[in-house]
Amino acid sequence: MNHFVMIIFGASGDLTKRKLMPALFTLFSNKRLPEDFSVLGTARTKYSDAEFRDYALKQLRIFVKPEERNEERFRAFCIRLHYITLDPSREESYPRLRDKLESVTGETRPDNLLFYLATPPALYGVIPLHLKAVGLNTPGSRVIVEKPFGSDLASAKALGETYKSVFDEQRIFRIDHFLGKETAQNILAFRFANGIFEPVWNRNYIDYVEVTAVENMGIENRGGFYDAAGALRDMVQNHLIQLVALTAMEPPVLFDADNFRNEIVKVYHSLKPLDEEDLHNHIIRGQYTASGGEKGYREEKGVRPDSRTETFIAMKLFINNWRWSGVPFYIRTGKQMPTKVTEIVIHFKETPYRMFRGESGESYPRGNQLIIRIQPDEGIVLKIGMKVPGTGFKLKQMSMDFSYSQLGNLDIRDSYVRLIEDCIQGDPTLFTRNDAIEASWRFFDPVLNFWKTCPEAPLYGYPAGTWGPKESDILMKGRGAGWTNPCKNLTNNDLYCEL
Ligand SMILES: NC(=O)c1ccc[n+]([C@@H]2O[C@H](COP(=O)([O-])OP(=O)(O)OC[C@H]3O[C@@H](n4cnc5c(N)ncnc54)[C@H](OP(=O)(O)O)[C@@H]3O)[C@@H](O)[C@H]2O)c1
Repeated sequence: MNHFVMIIFGASGDLTKRKLMPALFTLFSNKRLPEDFSVLGTARTKYSDAEFRDYALKQLRIFVKPEERNEERFRAFCIRLHYITLDPSREESYPRLRDKLESVTGETRPDNLLFYLATPPALYGVIPLHLKAVGLNTPGSRVIVEKPFGSDLASAKALGETYKSVFDEQRIFRIDHFLGKETAQNILAFRFANGIFEPVWNRNYIDYVEVTAVENMGIENRGGFYDAAGALRDMVQNHLIQLVALTAMEPPVLFDADNFRNEIVKVYHSLKPLDEEDLHNHIIRGQYTASGGEKGYREEKGVRPDSRTETFIAMKLFINNWRWSGVPFYIRTGKQMPTKVTEIVIHFKETPYRMFRGESGESYPRGNQLIIRIQPDEGIVLKIGMKVPGTGFKLKQMSMDFSYSQLGNLDIRDSYVRLIEDCIQGDPTLFTRNDAIEASWRFFDPVLNFWKTCPEAPLYGYPAGTWGPKESDILMKGRGAGWTNPCKNLTNNDLYCEL
């Protein structure tokens, strides 16, 4: 086998230091990388090989998990690192890149190459074309592209065409790190390895579904990127809709890349297209405002002072197929929320009539809930009504819970470890296929167009540290207690406003 090289575009950036280098180090430590491997970093920042190794060593000491840190192994890993200063947007950089690869590998035509595009998305279209111009899209090469793949349907299609003209589809790995999470994959095991759920996993027994992925941080130093993207492009079009697909998909005939990804795409094709009523009334966007010592979004570095970019979005959508017709899926994401959590809540229908009472005299039972917690405190909780011991017949809803920690030595390493290894082994199952990207954009494009052409579409302010605009609660009207918030809601109405 030829010398394996992972070439990172954007090697001086945040993703490389926080995720890619630690993931590569973990693979190296566990002897999961090819024996003969190198990493070649590239960016405009000037480093020699030695300076880049020093820089990488410092970052590894910070970002590798404490239990994995080992100075001797850090140094053995860093010897494999190389660097070339180049501007990836310029074609004239690439002959130098090819020469550097030849010198790193000692081969006249290096072929076992993995290009990782961790640059601003504006460069995702030009880098493959420049690689092709100098013949670096060799038959053995692969490319990993970070999200977002396109910023709307038209740009995603154009990007798809560019990649198709450079690499075969099976050599293109569009990464979505959510799918690399054990807990996301476990949705499949839970649904398709346990026969008891299948009979109730449909519109006859499920009332509605919530998918929440929120963070208790702002945008940190990503103002420039985030202000042009917003929550819909950053989270909804990729991560949230993936979770909807994992919840709603049919079992694949075989668990392999084609069959699995075919079923994902079918869910996207079944999404009920958004109409005027949906655009006006079933999508709530918000932006965090200053509160509790936290800056407002518009005060963040790199954000326009009059920005109307959404940092929160909640919406209701439907899947038009036999299994899900009529079952609303409520999805929600936001920055500066009270906590960081990603979870799916399946709300089952109530029993035909309520024959009992709860502890406070309310009628009972309520609908069961199944909570699939993707992060943190990974696990699964089933909420069921139980009789409170003692006289009378009062009921209480209790949780039957499974936590991943009960599985013992579960490997819940960062998803980049898993996904980079899959890519090296050529397994595309957990990467997004081009038709899925396009189908997802096709569904969300009307929202972007609506916001672009209808500037008066409301953007609601919400104080940093709260669960988003109160208008998002209206979406859930008639749905029991509303959104399932894992901690107490802050309800100071005076702090809410329309921006
Ligand atoms: N950070 C994360 O946790 C994360 C998570 C998921 C996805 N992503 C995606 O991964 C990509 C990289 O993210 P990041 O957070 O690492 O970004 P970043 O810190 O801004 O780094 C971007 C890299 O690209 C280079 N770069 C910046 N502007 C450039 C330009 N105009 N021309 C050429 N090179 C330029 C920078 O190096 P030089 O300035 O030295 O050239 C830097 O190495 C983004 O597309 C992002 O959406 C990031």
